[in-house]
Amino acid sequence: MKKIAMALALTVLPIQSVHADDRQVVNVPSEIKAMFLEEMRGHLDNLNEITLALSAGDFEAAAFVAKNKMGFGHSMREILVNQGMHEAEIDAFMKRMREKHGPGQGRGMGRFMPEELTMMGQEFHMAAENFAEVASSVQSPPTPEDYKNVFTALSETIDVCSACHSTFRVE
Ligand code: HEC
Repeated sequence: MKKIAMALALTVLPIQSVHADDRQVVNVPSEIKAMFLEEMRGHLDNLNEITLALSAGDFEAAAFVAKNKMGFGHSMREILVNQGMHEAEIDAFMKRMREKHGPGQGRGMGRFMPEELTMMGQEFHMAAENFAEVASSVQSPPTPEDYKNVFTALSETIDVCSACHSTFRVE
């Protein structure tokens, strides 16, 4: 009976009640789209790793994920992390690269993206790095105030995910 009621509800639901998708379309080559969405799914995993680390009270681990997998130049940082480079060495390497080549715009996927999306991407990296800073400055034992600050910074990062998703879609 329930099933029939549900089927009925679905058929009579006016189609207009579904909102039109008025997000800005970003047209990219299909292999770029696949790479982009794969990176996005990775970001959801990163959020999961961060929340798991926070639930274990491991603020350093949460900061590590945010900085190396979501911060500025995270793709390069991840490669260097996998090569066994230490955080300080990576920081120094990234600084040298920036001085030599300028900020990483115009290369990689960025060159297919509209400026507004790239800018939101920068905001996202900035929010993630801010979270990393807040999380890594927590002393042991953490205070309720520390937790509050850490979750505020995390929420500010997720805000940027949401803002970008409600503005753009890729095709
Ligand atoms: C600068 C813009 C931007 C930011 C920041 C951003 N995303 Fe996305 N994300 C997109 C776009 C555009 C899509 C494609 C949406 C579409 O076409 O419907 C997407 C798609 C996704 C998808 C779907 C992937 C798939 O396989 O279809 C997931 C999951 C996702 N994002 C997670 C995240 C998470 C988690 C964050 C933050 C930690 C984040 N994104 C931050 C732009 C962004």
